[in-house]
Amino acid sequence: MAEQEKDSLIKILQSLRRDYISGKFDESVAHENPFEQFRLWFLEVLSSDFVEPNAMVLSTASKDGIPSSRVVLLKKFDDKGFAFYTNYQSKKGKDLAENPYASLLFYWDKLERQVRINGRVEKTSFEESEEYFKSRPYLSRIGAWASKQSSPLRSRFTLMREVALLTMKYPVDVPLPPFWGGYRLIPDFFEFWQGRPSRLHDRIAYILQPDGKWKKQRLYP
Ligand SMILES: Cc1cc2nc3c(=O)[nH]c(=O)nc-3n(C[C@H](O)[C@H](O)[C@H](O)COP(=O)(O)O)c2cc1C
Repeated sequence: MAEQEKDSLIKILQSLRRDYISGKFDESVAHENPFEQFRLWFLEVLSSDFVEPNAMVLSTASKDGIPSSRVVLLKKFDDKGFAFYTNYQSKKGKDLAENPYASLLFYWDKLERQVRINGRVEKTSFEESEEYFKSRPYLSRIGAWASKQSSPLRSRFTLMREVALLTMKYPVDVPLPPFWGGYRLIPDFFEFWQGRPSRLHDRIAYILQPDGKWKKQRLYP
């Protein structure tokens, strides 16, 4: 990149700045139960016309603590936790096999809100994975078989040939691949962030206590 172009990009980056003015969030309105608070915010997200309201960043770490993040789709949440589906042999699957602690992050820009959720991750049961797998479109089910997710792929042609062979093998019913399924993150920490003017944002954290109760705690912005 030319020096001049670099300088002008840096100027643009430094001038990108907006004030958050659309809401506030305080102890008096924050629900005592963080799952319920998430549900209330998510209902607002669903009525706010986001392209992918359920997209979330999942961060994992290897056993050596090397972090890795990627977007996945939230497919289920209730007071047991937050579930997503993937290939168990992918990079994230390998990380989670070595180190079951992970973090989820939602950022809903139009609402000036961020939610962070940390916890331990477990695989969903075979039945739960299968139930979700069956609800996917046919070619997504074939795709799950075809993709050795996160392994090197020689060419797109190799993948498409694999897809074609699998459509012949499974012309109607596609069984759940043994290497594919769900994970559920069982939270021990939530943080709800609402942007406020002058970077004096509202942050309410919920920390799981040894007795199973949630402690609500405001954090400095
Ligand atoms: C909007 C969006 C949604 C995605 N949803 C999923 C998903 O639900 N499951 C999944 O395995 N990958 C999903 N991906 C792809 C992942 O971000 C990632 O590329 C893939 O899972 C491989 O990650 P890994 O190599 O870290 O395991 C999604 C990507 C985007 C951009």
